[in-house]
Amino acid sequence: MCAAYLPIVCSVFTMGKQALEAMPRFKLNSGASIPAVGLGTWQSEPGLVGKAVKEAVKVGYRHIDCAKAYKNEKEVGDALQELYKEGIVKREDLWITSKLWCTDHNDVEEALKGSIERLQCEYLDLYLVHWPCALKKDAEGTGPEDFVPLNIKGTWAAMEKCYESGLAKSIGISNFTVEKTKSLLSHCKVRPAVNQVECHPLWQQKKLWPYLKSEGIHLTAYSPIGSSNSPFADINVLELPTITKMAEKYKRSPAQIALRWNIQQGHSVLPKSTHADRLASNIELFDFEISEEDLDEFAKIEQHRLLRGDEMWVNDSTSPYKTVEELWDGDI
Ligand SMILES: NC(=O)c1ccc[n+]([C@@H]2O[C@H](COP(=O)([O-])OP(=O)(O)OC[C@H]3O[C@@H](n4cnc5c(N)ncnc54)[C@H](OP(=O)(O)O)[C@@H]3O)[C@@H](O)[C@H]2O)c1
Repeated sequence: MCAAYLPIVCSVFTMGKQALEAMPRFKLNSGASIPAVGLGTWQSEPGLVGKAVKEAVKVGYRHIDCAKAYKNEKEVGDALQELYKEGIVKREDLWITSKLWCTDHNDVEEALKGSIERLQCEYLDLYLVHWPCALKKDAEGTGPEDFVPLNIKGTWAAMEKCYESGLAKSIGISNFTVEKTKSLLSHCKVRPAVNQVECHPLWQQKKLWPYLKSEGIHLTAYSPIGSSNSPFADINVLELPTITKMAEKYKRSPAQIALRWNIQQGHSVLPKSTHADRLASNIELFDFEISEEDLDEFAKIEQHRLLRGDEMWVNDSTSPYKTVEELWDGDI
């Protein structure tokens, strides 16, 4: 498994604390290398997110996952500026991702520049189309009156321009199914480097992941510890019997087991926390390995997609998706 899926990570299994200094990375089809662990910033509250970013970088994170929709990019950017000024990290040593919100499909470059300005980072390492849905420019919600037709060909052509201009070093997608990715590949000039999707032991992306691998597209796992405090998550991944059993066996926290499982599949992970102790432990993943035999136990877990807020993308008049099944092309 290692040789095929973990070309970079395998070599650092036993690095322990050293791994914190040189975060393992996965090579993308753009030629860039994405750090294996990134800090999630969704639902990180104002006043806390900047502190979390500073603490995370100090303990070894080199990858921050942002989005215009999280409404906290400015605070993240301010924290990064402080880190540069304190000499703790340089911009070029960081990987900064942001995402095109659904109101901005007709203004891709302007939206990208807006994220760059708030994050104060000159360029993005990765810019993603956040959802395969388009909303009116001034939409504040996702009611039927807010949708406009999605022209993904036009959106992607504009994303390609951002890549060609160097404003985004890699471009990609998020929440795209096999069918939606396939359709994009049929007309793109620049292939998406990444598809960022929900992925954890309870929702392993058993259909999407083999497809992305066959197309050379990297999977980044969002909600990798099951979004445990999210109002949308109805089962706690960290309490699954397989996870608690492995946590006991490997003498690791349940979160570390869930994250390590994802990394051994070849996926980068985006755990979110605003607590210093969790930030530190969520990155201590490179001095142990889950055995092949134990990985087989994960494969037996009955699958259940956790994030339920996706009904917001569905209506029977203006959305391209009349049902949640259509949004996910039946993969639910
Ligand atoms: N592209 C997309 O559409 C999309 C969608 C969802 C998420 N994302 C990205 O993925 C990131 C992560 O996803 P997520 O925020 O949904 O969920 P997550 O990272 O799976 O879970 C975060 C929750 O787990 C708690 N937590 C963190 N470390 C823990 C630990 N060691 N033990 C127990 N609990 C722990 C956090 O609480 P505390 O903060 O209180 O520690 C928080 O409530 C997001 O922040 C965002 O950057 C992207």
